[in-house]
Amino acid sequence: RLRLAVLASGRGSNLQAILDAVSSGTLDATVAGVFSDKPDALALQRARDAGLHAEALRARGFASRDAFDAAFFARVDSVAPDLVVCAGYMRIIGAAAARALAGRTLNIHPSLLPDFRGLHTHRQALDAGVAEHGASVHFVTAELDGGPVIAQARVPVLPGDDEDTLAARVLEREHPLLVASLRLFAAGRVALHEDRVHIDGRALTEPLQL
Ligand code: GAR
Repeated sequence: RLRLAVLASGRGSNLQAILDAVSSGTLDATVAGVFSDKPDALALQRARDAGLHAEALRARGFASRDAFDAAFFARVDSVAPDLVVCAGYMRIIGAAAARALAGRTLNIHPSLLPDFRGLHTHRQALDAGVAEHGASVHFVTAELDGGPVIAQARVPVLPGDDEDTLAARVLEREHPLLVASLRLFAAGRVALHEDRVHIDGRALTEPLQL
């Protein structure tokens, strides 16, 4: 079975969607550990409540981003994950660690990449006046929110939306999007080859729309 390490910095609703999919049998995988840069992340409590290995490492005190990443990802790798899933992990992963994680690390990002990288994506979408917004699951590379996109879910931006209403509409779609993406991995159907996503051995020309 696919061994997952899940990285989360906060609420952990995407982690919960993974845990629920594993326990219902929808996702044939094991969560080998949950890792956070925030000791008080609700995600860690969710993991412990599920009887899983959960630990945090604070960045404070490390001399550099690379020094933190080396220590943090050594802990992550200690559970021997097949796939590392950034599910609301809010720290930038430095280039050295990102290279070491290439092809075996996913991130869920709350925008239709390549639009609106970085933070405050719902605010960015409202400010840009787009009619559609959504979420993307992509491979992590050294370029922040710039790795090849596997799958996306789209939602309309509605009149009267504010950041909260839009974020909630996107989040509702993030959970099934992430689970569906992980199901592809569990079935051995997705891989990164030469910077391109391959599904069933063929290069994707467009992200899957889920
Ligand atoms: C989710 O919306 C996720 O897409 C986003 O943080 C939220 C975490 O929610 N991730 C990023 O912004 C990554 N840069 P959760 O903790 O409830 O899963």
